[in-house]
Amino acid sequence: METKSALETILDRRSVRSYADKKVEKDLIEALLTYAVRAPTAMHQEPCAFAVIQDQNLLREISDLAKPQFEKILHAPGHSKTHATHDFSDPNFNIFYGADTLIVITAKLPGHFLDADCWLAAENLMLAATGMGLGTCVIGSALMALNGPDMKSRLNIPDEYSAVAPIIVGYPSGITAPSSRKNPVVLSWIY
Ligand SMILES: Cc1cc2nc3c(=O)[nH]c(=O)nc-3n(C[C@H](O)[C@H](O)[C@H](O)COP(=O)(O)O)c2cc1C
Repeated sequence: METKSALETILDRRSVRSYADKKVEKDLIEALLTYAVRAPTAMHQEPCAFAVIQDQNLLREISDLAKPQFEKILHAPGHSKTHATHDFSDPNFNIFYGADTLIVITAKLPGHFLDADCWLAAENLMLAATGMGLGTCVIGSALMALNGPDMKSRLNIPDEYSAVAPIIVGYPSGITAPSSRKNPVVLSWIY
């Protein structure tokens, strides 16, 4: 496998929304989880636990459950719609974009820094995937559906755990252009 530098990998990561019809191998998923748990963890609590879903019918079911729930959030008063680019009322829209795999990072919430731990693990996982030539995207719109009691039980997520970071993983189809970024806002630099 060709290896990129860490700096190249950070710049090469994209939110990929178009995937080839190709399975992500089990050993790659296992490797991604190993990289995920190398992330910093507050007070060395290591709270993250993972659910991996590769069943396309179940992913479609979660997508169909999530869309109306997320639409309500988008239409709630005061919600900014600037970046909501997809039509959640479109029956053909799949919030997982046909990716082979969904990895859900969970933790026993609430707790100090537990969600921070999950998101740090998420970024490690996404950078590792980029390094392996895989595409990823955080799918925040799936969170409500994933945290419903029935879905949690089907995914073997214990009651006391919450889904925090849902990330799709798959082989990209085509090339995703980098998105723009504002320049860093430096509020102070005191010396
Ligand atoms: C917490 C969070 C939730 C997100 N949820 C979604 C989502 O539901 N669907 C989606 O297509 N992208 C989602 N994204 C991806 C962002 O849209 C993306 O990171 C942003 O547009 C910047 O693009 P880039 O990741 O390619 O640099 C999410 C990102 C984050 C951090």
